[in-house]
Amino acid sequence: ERARIRYTYEECKATADWLLKQTDLCPLVGIVCGSGMGGLADMLKDRVVFNYKDIPNFPQSTVHGHAGRLVFGTLKGRACVCMQGRFHLYEGYSIQKITLPMRIFKLLGVQTVMLTNAAGGLNQDYKVGDIMVLKDHLNFPGLAGNNPLVGPNDERFGVRFPCMSDAYDRELQQLAAEVGQELGFGDFLREGVYSVLGGPSFETIAECRMLSILGADAVGMSTVHEVVVARHCGMRVFALSLITNRAVMDYDSAERANHEEVLETGKLRAEQLERLITAMVTRLEHN
Ligand code: 6GU
Repeated sequence: ERARIRYTYEECKATADWLLKQTDLCPLVGIVCGSGMGGLADMLKDRVVFNYKDIPNFPQSTVHGHAGRLVFGTLKGRACVCMQGRFHLYEGYSIQKITLPMRIFKLLGVQTVMLTNAAGGLNQDYKVGDIMVLKDHLNFPGLAGNNPLVGPNDERFGVRFPCMSDAYDRELQQLAAEVGQELGFGDFLREGVYSVLGGPSFETIAECRMLSILGADAVGMSTVHEVVVARHCGMRVFALSLITNRAVMDYDSAERANHEEVLETGKLRAEQLERLITAMVTRLEHN
């Protein structure tokens, strides 16, 4: 099952239709909850919930802190579909498989995707608990040939060579800044460049220094693959990182990255993160 690499348009369509048959909602917004941020999905009203294991073709979450459910519902009256728990390269799935949900989103009618993740802070100005709006990324697996779009291209999803210089929607970044200001997030809302690595081991000190020199403000193990597939099929993308720990940058530091700290910081800022996303969703405009 894990060895299965990619899914056809028809298989994606079958999964989307299977879901649509069981809910009256037509979500325009798709949300992906990062580690420790699954509370977002619990805020939806009028919920219809599917366990990943029951959805045809869907992979299953194996990470502690990730629930593994697809939740349809409304956020202040707006129909949304929310992944409570996501898939990562390090779980052993193919990169096409971990990004399959983006194509399902597209075929459900989603126009805007909002992704969250937990990340390590490389930028020395960042503090634990900061929220970083992504303005760009460094796709290391992609640069090394592991891009989710490798393989035959189906034009029904998108073009062979999609542009990534506008991956992160500027209007949505602006909206986040406005909403953040109104919510009083002035001092901890940032914008920056996210770098993705395969994981599951955290970075060495030399690797953190390299990433920092290359212009990365934060480092994590997710999101970018989803962004690439979402942009390929023409959805608007907004993404943010919760800085759950500071990446270790010098040999004298006694700090050590660990997953428990990631989950703890998630709890600390989860409520504010939920308020930011909710306020943004109520102000999104769709065609
Ligand atoms: Cl320090 N590194 C990576 N790769 N992912 C993380 C992280 C660090 N902190 C949270 N997620």
